[in-house]
Amino acid sequence: MNTQNIIDQTAEFVKEKLHNQESGHDWWHVYRVWQNAKQIGVKENADMYVVELAALLHDIADYKFHDGDLTVGPRVAREWLEKLNIEEGVIQHIADIIENLSYKGADVENKISTKEGMVVQDADRLDAIGAMGIARCFSYSGFKGNPLHDPEVEPKMHTSFEEYKKNVSPAINHFYEKLLLLKDRMNTVTAKKMAEERHNYMQGYLDQFLAEWDGKK
Ligand code: ADP
Ligand code: NI
Repeated sequence: MNTQNIIDQTAEFVKEKLHNQESGHDWWHVYRVWQNAKQIGVKENADMYVVELAALLHDIADYKFHDGDLTVGPRVAREWLEKLNIEEGVIQHIADIIENLSYKGADVENKISTKEGMVVQDADRLDAIGAMGIARCFSYSGFKGNPLHDPEVEPKMHTSFEEYKKNVSPAINHFYEKLLLLKDRMNTVTAKKMAEERHNYMQGYLDQFLAEWDGKK
């Protein structure tokens, strides 16, 4: 099987598997991350075979929907890639990327280490900010039953993944706990540039939201 066939079949597998998923982590999230990753990866001279497969498989079994277990995603990805007879080095690289991709709290160290991992992480994080980021934040928050906003609940800078996972804070707090921090945490120069416009859009939205909250606009 040639590499294009492998990518096409993987896209079909993911589409099938995620079609009923919560709308912020469904096939269309993966599709957007895949497109972002292609844009960034080419400019950063990354190995595009690894980038595309890791982008496609990155949320195949997200810990948020598997009792906080970070090992399910890499395991399901590995099983799929083994079925396609992909070489072990490539499989291990992709499994490592998936295992280390997720945001784990504002003050928790990022363990992503290869260029391809950095590209896919940036692509995923771009979909967490801007117009898409706003939509996904409210969608996930509604899915969890959390409030839109509560001015009496202060945002928290989480220092451990355990604490971050348990968090049930209002949607607006998530902007301060993660989304507004992402612009300065992009790994690649290309994604840093792409993040700028999305960040400013989100900041403008928050200013308007908070002004409307107090009847000032
Ligand atoms: P990652 O994709 O790095 O695993 P997260 O699990 O933190 O990142 O979140 C992915 C997306 O899900 C966020 O960008 C956001 O849109 C949404 N999300 C996660 N946690 C929350 C939350 N507590 N409140 C609102 N939205 C959230
Ligand atoms: Ni994702």
